[in-house]
Amino acid sequence: MTKEIILSGMRPTGRLHLGNYLGAMKNWIAMQDDYNCYFEIADWHALMSDYGDPGSVTRNSRDMLCVWLAVGLDPEKCVIFRQSDVPEHLELFFIFSTITPLGWLERCPTYKEALVNNDKKDIRNYAFLGYPSLQAADIALYRADKVPVGKDQLPHLELTREVIRRFNHLYNTDVMTEPGEVLTKVQKLKGTDGRKMSKSYGNTIYLTEEKASLKKKVNKMVTDPARIRVDDKGHPEVCSVFSYQKIFNQNEAEKINNECKSGTIGCVKCKKKLLNNLNDFIQPIREKYLYYKENTKKVNKILEDGNRRAKKTASENLKLFRKEMNYG
Ligand code: TRP
Ligand code: SF4
Repeated sequence: MTKEIILSGMRPTGRLHLGNYLGAMKNWIAMQDDYNCYFEIADWHALMSDYGDPGSVTRNSRDMLCVWLAVGLDPEKCVIFRQSDVPEHLELFFIFSTITPLGWLERCPTYKEALVNNDKKDIRNYAFLGYPSLQAADIALYRADKVPVGKDQLPHLELTREVIRRFNHLYNTDVMTEPGEVLTKVQKLKGTDGRKMSKSYGNTIYLTEEKASLKKKVNKMVTDPARIRVDDKGHPEVCSVFSYQKIFNQNEAEKINNECKSGTIGCVKCKKKLLNNLNDFIQPIREKYLYYKENTKKVNKILEDGNRRAKKTASENLKLFRKEMNYG
């Protein structure tokens, strides 16, 4: 039986944190064996907002790749590639641009939100409007059956299906595959201050966090404000430390839950337990990450190999699409 094709991607916009891992990479890793997977460093998408500092996109792409490898994406099992190294993406993006009505893009909820929240980066440029169109090209180019994404990406997936349907309809073909979404099971992780995890709030923990700064961050985490003395009865359900225990210290979470409620564990001890468990999780990732950061040649080879495999599929499919368009 041939494996189904999966494509997903991530924009290289900065250091990856625990939320990125739980929201995406963890699920990607779980799919490597059962699907024919393509994982894309979506650097053209990043450039749409980070055009003021293209060098940062290059650096972040490299860095993200090292983290992907460190957490366990395996280039023997999946194709890891960089979007801008496979120019076929731009070619299909252009073809899609000709058949995407402006209204679809202007009405896209993620676009409308970005226009409102553009406090730091000015994204009112020509390319950014076409963001979902490029994403549709990413997906169609590999004839992906499924796309694992978070809920925030559903409007883009819907638009992808619409563009693909329009292509197939206009050129009277079924060459393009309408992809389904895999709404991945995501363990939601709040920021260390209990608010939504976001780099702009400074409440994230990085996947490659140094031990010393990890310690500082855990110590600063917001606990149940009603607990003043060690033996006060606590409410773990409102405590951000506890929400992390549930994910990174599963074995002890139930016990901590009871002890907190009965006032038999103090927050200092509780945080110490979390710190140890988080560090056990992060340390091997950090070590592998540093290994890849130092082994430039090895990483170059992995990327070149991934790019080559991606390009092979992409160029074959693009030829097929142009043939169906009767556009030689
Ligand atoms: N827009 C996606 C995000 O921000 C990243 C992305 C780019 C993507 N191309 C993709 C995701 C193709 C899935 C499929 O998360
Ligand atoms: Fe939070 Fe742990 Fe303190 Fe309870 S004991 S309030 S779970 S840090």
